[in-house]
Amino acid sequence: MLRRALLFLSEREGLKNRLLRMRAARAVADRFVAGEGLDEALEATQQLNDDGFRVTLDLLGESVTDRDEAERATAAYERSVVRIAGCDVSATISLKLTQLGLDLDVDACVANLDRIVTTAAAHDSFVRIDMEGSNHTQATLDVFHRVRETHANVGVVIQSHLHRTERDVDALIEADAAVRLCKGAYKEPVSVAYQRKADIDANFVHLMRRLLDAADGRVMEGGVPPVAIATHDEKMVEATRSFVESHAVEIDRFEFQMLYGVRRELQTQLREGGYHVRIYVPYGTEWYPYFMRRMAERPANLWFVTRAILGG
Ligand code: FDA
Repeated sequence: MLRRALLFLSEREGLKNRLLRMRAARAVADRFVAGEGLDEALEATQQLNDDGFRVTLDLLGESVTDRDEAERATAAYERSVVRIAGCDVSATISLKLTQLGLDLDVDACVANLDRIVTTAAAHDSFVRIDMEGSNHTQATLDVFHRVRETHANVGVVIQSHLHRTERDVDALIEADAAVRLCKGAYKEPVSVAYQRKADIDANFVHLMRRLLDAADGRVMEGGVPPVAIATHDEKMVEATRSFVESHAVEIDRFEFQMLYGVRRELQTQLREGGYHVRIYVPYGTEWYPYFMRRMAERPANLWFVTRAILGG
């Protein structure tokens, strides 16, 4: 119930404007967001690389409403790819297609993505397309498949809470796609998504096994393995470890992925256990919807906000 309320609020502009003005809320967001600018994100990346983690950088932003904004986001991503390559850090990038204008003009969005992926290829890097709400799933996969035809250094995300994902996995395996599997962070209706955690988890384990089975013999593109298992759920992590061990899946065929600031001890434990772990590091000024989705995943996080606000 609280989760659904928080996800509902993640789309409300009024609350967004109030929270953006509140310094205490900003301070709490810092736990999940590396900073407002690329310099701060690169500092966080450096620290994570030094600690043995891989990184993917996300310039926060989604659902742009005009082409200029989409153009600015595209140019900013190209600049970040070039900056990353010019520094002594290692990071891929993650982006959302509605940030590149998916809702405005699909062909222009494809062209924007193509520019970023081409720049990334020139710098031996990789671009991951995050998955948004189910009203964008088909369009996101269509754009992915179009760009994948000419570029290998692009991957996509699928969500185990959607009923359709099993079929999407067939097509992605067929296309030799690099896939990040997650549970899904958006509020979805019963008609398209499982609602019970047990069902979402069971589908996650099933899809994890299918993806890892299909990863055998596949190569990395831009330093990225064919499969990414994105979760902080110890049961999902254990299921993955157990499958990998019993099926002798090579360590380089997959990586675990976790969000910046979430379950740091689990991140370290996996890395020390010899697994590849990539941290998803968001940065930028547009932190509100991202932050609210993190609150929805663990309403106990709300305590940090309340404490910060009461503490001034
Ligand atoms: P679950 O929600 O069951 O949580 C398991 C445990 O992890 C919790 O009990 C808690 O201890 C801890 N935990 C989880 N979330 C937490 C939080 N926010 N703060 C503190 N503790 C937390 N979604 C999507 O729709 N599209 C996408 O592209 C992506 N991309 C993505 C990348 C990466 C690297 C990750 C890790 C996740 C995503 N997600 C995503 C988000 C994903 O769909 C999902 O909402 C969250 O990962 C939470 O689900 P868990 O698998 O962690 O399990």
